[in-house]
Amino acid sequence: MISAPSRYHPLAVTLHWLLAVILIIALVMGSQVLEKIPNTDPEKINALRGHMMAGGLILLLTLLRIFVRFKTIAPNPAPTGSALLDKVAALVHVLLNLVVIVMAISGIALAFSAGLPDIVFGGSGQPLPISFQDFPARAVHGIIAKVLMALIVLHIVDAIYHQFILKDNLMKRIWFGKR
Ligand code: HEM
Repeated sequence: MISAPSRYHPLAVTLHWLLAVILIIALVMGSQVLEKIPNTDPEKINALRGHMMAGGLILLLTLLRIFVRFKTIAPNPAPTGSALLDKVAALVHVLLNLVVIVMAISGIALAFSAGLPDIVFGGSGQPLPISFQDFPARAVHGIIAKVLMALIVLHIVDAIYHQFILKDNLMKRIWFGKR
């Protein structure tokens, strides 16, 4: 029997940190910049182009990360001493993946329902719809963004609890080095 390694595979580590950075940028830029630009502003198309490309990249990297996670051997789950906390942490990990996928799919659904592929990438010269608020996928995208932000906060609190309260050096597992 192969014993569990002390760290995640280097590719899993790379994808974890790359996704952490792109996801946080997409959430901050989406909610603080993109959403606040009126659809009548000519700059909106450029902002949408950047956001849609980042969102598509997040979806591809997340699917690749899930694939790598199942194809490589991961360290054993890190116990906290509380069965409930361990279950919550495991649930947050699963939900993070699911919610990121729903976030990207709702963005793609919104883009297609509002005709964005042609306007943003096809140079059709058509104007953007006056607002995205009437599209059901826009509401899903907005609500899921808040759920994702809450899950990321829980995930970070969990990591801080392990690292600084339990002092089990959990962060070492998700960094490069001898496995
Ligand atoms: C997982 C990846 C994604 C994240 C984290 C993300 C994040 C966000 C956030 C935070 C907002 C603002 C929501 C609000 O404050 O109510 C937003 C809006 C939007 N996103 Fe995404 N998004 C992602 C993927 C996508 C994709 C793949 C597309 C399209 C291909 C897309 C298209 C849009 C559009 C059209 C808006 C509306 C902008 C507006 O209301 O003016 N998103 N996104």
